Amino acid sequence: MHIVDLIAKKRDGFELTQKEIKYLIENYTKGLIPDYQMSAFLMATYFQKMNDEEATYLALAMRDSGDTIDLSSIPGVKVDKHSTGGVGDKVTLILGPLLASLGVKFAKMSGRGLGHTGGTIDKLESIPGYQVELSVENFIKQVNQIGIAIVGQSGDVAPADKKLYALRDVTATVDVIPLIASSIMSKKLASGADAIVLDVKVGHGAFMKTEEEAVKLAELMVSIGRLAGKKMTAILTGMDEPLGHKIGNGLEVYEAIETLLGRGPEDLVHVTVEIGAHLLIDSGLEKDFEQAKKRLHEALNNGKAYQKFLELVTAQGGDVKALEKKETLLSPHTVEVICEQDGYVTDINALDIGKAAMRLGAGREKKEDDVLFDVGIDLHKKIGHAVKKGDVLATLYVQKQGIDEAKQLILHAISIGSVKKDLPLIRKTIK
Ligand code: URA
Repeated sequence: MHIVDLIAKKRDGFELTQKEIKYLIENYTKGLIPDYQMSAFLMATYFQKMNDEEATYLALAMRDSGDTIDLSSIPGVKVDKHSTGGVGDKVTLILGPLLASLGVKFAKMSGRGLGHTGGTIDKLESIPGYQVELSVENFIKQVNQIGIAIVGQSGDVAPADKKLYALRDVTATVDVIPLIASSIMSKKLASGADAIVLDVKVGHGAFMKTEEEAVKLAELMVSIGRLAGKKMTAILTGMDEPLGHKIGNGLEVYEAIETLLGRGPEDLVHVTVEIGAHLLIDSGLEKDFEQAKKRLHEALNNGKAYQKFLELVTAQGGDVKALEKKETLLSPHTVEVICEQDGYVTDINALDIGKAAMRLGAGREKKEDDVLFDVGIDLHKKIGHAVKKGDVLATLYVQKQGIDEAKQLILHAISIGSVKKDLPLIRKTIK
């Protein structure tokens, strides 16, 4: 087999076999195929795309390029969820303890944030003492003991994807649905869960700007997962505005705690319960979707989910006492963003809100950057809310950096008009 022939085959619009894709990925990972040839292959793929089988073979080859986590020593169905990245998306922090409180095994490896969306691991690290690094052995032990562990990616999971993604990033080939689907799924398949719900975000704060693109991505990821033997569901959720009110690491933990205590914002509870209901059914612990949702709401309202969260934090070395005074998660320095006109909030550009949080120090522009845990945005007004000139649109929790820039970004992000608008949050479910 020769790489030049494979590049030409893809360039001319032909389908690659599993053997050919495996060859490509194995040799690229080993450094035997240089970046310039892989770049040509990626660009050919950008124009000619890949069919579902090729994308599945690519996901499997990238999964097999590194460590795969074997969760078979945990009895029962192990579940996982993935979000394609949203602003204010703290669903994992709530969903994990919520499901575990009902007996579901939640074994999750999460990532750090990059760009305008935050990462679960950064959020958890805002809890003093919380250890995100566990050996695979201890990860499994903890799930067996308390039903849940949320850790950073351990070992060398899908190194081919890491290398390929870095190359896509600098060759303008990130934006290709089969490449995105196989990249995400290679990591999901390596992390060992039996049932996965994908939350595919759509809107201007998301990777996928249109519903049509989001459906394509969702269907392909579901198909890849299913071909690899997983129970799969994808939901399409709107990212026309941030999820919940709080954006920033400690702020999102704060809002997650409020939600676990039954006081969460409606949109955040809605998405969390919807994903949870699918996973409760996939776990075999419930048959009826409406009944599943009812049980999840009950666990949020009766303190069970919050108790499980405290167990999780304790098991991973976090300071539960610090959470009792959860104001300490927030910077004591605040600045208000004031509304300049009367009307209704008609749009909140989530991308700009994410960027504003990043300017305050909550996110990182480069992988090596540090994040500040106690800065961020509390967005008081959301789409459909009536506002008056002089109202506080948002409170910024700040340190020294980025305050004016963040204020401008937020004012620019929030559109105010005369017509009240309500957008559906969950757009589609793909099974
Ligand atoms: N996230 C991933 O993990 N991979 C992509 O290609 C795009 C988003």
